[in-house]
Amino acid sequence: MSSIPSKMKAILVNKNGGADVLEYTDSHPVPSLSDGQVLVKNHFAGVNYIDTYFRTGLYPAPAGFPMIIGQEASGTVAKIEGSSEYGFKEGDRVVWIARGGYAEYTAVPEKSVVKIPDGVSDEDAVGGFLMGMTALSLVKEAYPVKKGETVLVHAAAGGMGLLLCQILRDMGVTVIGTAGGPEKCALAKENGATHVIDYKSTDGPSWVEQVLKITDGKGVDCTYDGVGKDTYEGDLEVAARKSKVVYFGNASGAIPPFNIARLSAKNISIMRSTLMQYIVTREELEFYANGVLDLLKSKKLNIKIHKVYPLKDAVQAHKDLEGRKTTGKLLLEL
Ligand SMILES: NC(=O)c1ccc[n+]([C@@H]2O[C@H](COP(=O)([O-])OP(=O)(O)OC[C@H]3O[C@@H](n4cnc5c(N)ncnc54)[C@H](OP(=O)(O)O)[C@@H]3O)[C@@H](O)[C@H]2O)c1
Repeated sequence: MSSIPSKMKAILVNKNGGADVLEYTDSHPVPSLSDGQVLVKNHFAGVNYIDTYFRTGLYPAPAGFPMIIGQEASGTVAKIEGSSEYGFKEGDRVVWIARGGYAEYTAVPEKSVVKIPDGVSDEDAVGGFLMGMTALSLVKEAYPVKKGETVLVHAAAGGMGLLLCQILRDMGVTVIGTAGGPEKCALAKENGATHVIDYKSTDGPSWVEQVLKITDGKGVDCTYDGVGKDTYEGDLEVAARKSKVVYFGNASGAIPPFNIARLSAKNISIMRSTLMQYIVTREELEFYANGVLDLLKSKKLNIKIHKVYPLKDAVQAHKDLEGRKTTGKLLLEL
């Protein structure tokens, strides 16, 4: 095994703020291992919208500052101390979900690491890992969608959106996808959306009116909404009687408190879903991780990589993501 240096490249967040608070360094100490951890030499880190929430302070820094954001990466096992509970050995190709991904090396709890099967690239493994598991958890547990139902997916050309469209199409679901602009709408359609609505367009009927028209006034069986503040109210208007709205993110800002009496108009259920609460045990993580890796291996899930940015360009990656300039997945190369 190649020797492990004492310093590494990383992106540090020393205070909350805009994308410019992301600071590149090439001399951060390589982390030492605690019990139950393995050291992973990361090749690609996934960029997720949640990284921006930790950066801005919408979600508090879990262990104070400086903070290394990034919830997932793919790479190789560089070091294991003692025996490995899950059978890892140095040199294994792995993908993980934890904290501290915007760095060359991460000390990751072994229970959060999964081997990448042959036939799946490092880019696809991490490109589809957190988001693919989230998409599966949304359609299997948050609202177990059934063949023949009609669902609404917001930001359908985004990282999450493209995966949801593909997975729902393959389940025989009618997908209404919203996206900002004609190019994004076309991409959502290519990836499985049955109907697309440009919710940024100011001409013609609103997206709410269009969803009601497509569903003959009945509304949708479920909405998966990662946009949040700008769409949460419309979701209640397009919800069918006895349907569910699953909120899972805040791309446009956090949803403010609202009166649950509004749900009684149509016996609507709402939930706020997070992947992390579906992968608490090793068994749960393996269920979703293997679900995604199997789909990748069998080429049933296509990962659209928007761009691979060098680590030092993390600022630009965040600006592009928050500026609604991206489609699909953003990666950082270490
Ligand atoms: N709960 C979970 O476990 C979980 C896990 C993964 C992701 N998520 C959530 O899923 C959502 C999507 O994440 P992602 O990483 O795949 O991002 P993304 O969808 O690739 O990017 C966000 C998209 O949201 C749309 N958007 C609408 N209003 C926006 C605004 N005011 N500012 C910025 N974007 C806006 C934009 O698409 P248009 O231009 O088409 O509107 C933008 O491209 C996020 O809310 C994220 O937090 C949640």
